[in-house]
Amino acid sequence: MTTTAPTDSSSGTDVRLTAISKSYGAFTAVHPLDLSVPAGSFFALLGASGCGKTTTLRMIAGLEQPTTGTVRLAGQDVTGLPPHKRPVNTVFQSYALFPHLDIYENVAFGLRRRGIKSVKKQVGDMLDLVQLGDFARRKPHQLSGGQQQRVAVARALINHPRVLLLDEPLGALDLKLRRQMQLELKRIQTEVGITFIHVTHDQEEAMTMADTVAVMNAGRVEQLGAPADLYETPRTTFVANFLGTSNLITAEVLDASGDTLVLRAADTKLALPRARCTTAPQAGGKLLVGIRPEKITLTHAEDAGTVPEGRNRVHGRITASSFIGVSTQYLVDSPVATGLSVYEQNIERDSRLAPGADVVLHWNPGHSFGLDAAQSIEAGTDAGEGT
Ligand SMILES: Nc1ncnc2c1ncn2[C@@H]1O[C@H](COP(=O)(O)OP(=O)(O)OP(=O)(O)O)[C@@H](O)[C@H]1O
Ligand SMILES: [Mg+2]
Repeated sequence: MTTTAPTDSSSGTDVRLTAISKSYGAFTAVHPLDLSVPAGSFFALLGASGCGKTTTLRMIAGLEQPTTGTVRLAGQDVTGLPPHKRPVNTVFQSYALFPHLDIYENVAFGLRRRGIKSVKKQVGDMLDLVQLGDFARRKPHQLSGGQQQRVAVARALINHPRVLLLDEPLGALDLKLRRQMQLELKRIQTEVGITFIHVTHDQEEAMTMADTVAVMNAGRVEQLGAPADLYETPRTTFVANFLGTSNLITAEVLDASGDTLVLRAADTKLALPRARCTTAPQAGGKLLVGIRPEKITLTHAEDAGTVPEGRNRVHGRITASSFIGVSTQYLVDSPVATGLSVYEQNIERDSRLAPGADVVLHWNPGHSFGLDAAQSIEAGTDAGEGT
């Protein structure tokens, strides 16, 4: 599997990891990993707790010595260099500001340590960048969590690193502030144009912020790409389930000869464009058909005749519904699979769509994707945690 970012070129690559791995005794936290991060990009490492995100970041920073492999920054092999000799800065979840120094001096710290006397302009610019100009003389404890977090970013950026490493920097913030800071960090990154590598276990955060997301699972990168590509065309069940929600239906391949595969799940025939398949389908073999909940339309069984031609259709019965505001989320049991998830936008709500109702679920075959059936169907879900 290739793990090279799509826009990678040797001249435009800021961070290149080659066969880098980390073992602690008999345990391998990061399996040999190749990764290229283009200069100026916002790159996210996404994965569940313990999958090796921090370990990977620490190897880039030089805080951890890799067991195998090399780290190159801006073309230079830095594998043997200590952290302070590398053109990187790290922002951690705990902002670790100096409590006795005010915001201005916290931000000025890196410059003063290097013996730079006239710091006023640079500190001022940096405080403006993170929109904390009015707070220069406050102490860290007089700021909110989000403001402290911005000070930590300013304090790192003032050193003009080639690469800024961020390890769950928003982890301590409540949801609303977190969403706000995601946009704020993205704005800062666009403004300064420095390469950001952001570690998070929050898939929404990774998709909102990053140009490229690497999805990690148990010390390996499962898939790497632009957020929309990962979401629309996951290559593994782990990615399909970890990034949003997917319905995965086990189906038998009846005909694999044309551009559109003909499949059967229980009593139902399904179509799937071959181009939407990440595995080589064979007649008689099995496939997993994936379809996102928002791409399915629910029609009451009485109106089944109104479903347009050419759509995949599956019969089922609603077992649960929850009104979320922008959408209503349904669970539907069907002969092809139990607990299918369907999200309907709340535009014109059909009051008949309630638990117990018989329905037709239908979707455009081109909106589904095909995966190798030899994988765990629950990988990346709460139920399949650790697979
Ligand atoms: N010094 C160490 N000695 C032994 N095992 C370690 C050490 N550091 C990390 N590990 C193990 O390596 C694995 C990866 O850890 P890492 O901190 O990289 O995970 P992570 O993806 O950052 O998780 P989280 O989201 O919880 O921060 C974990 O199973 C962890 O227990
Ligand atoms: Mg971590």
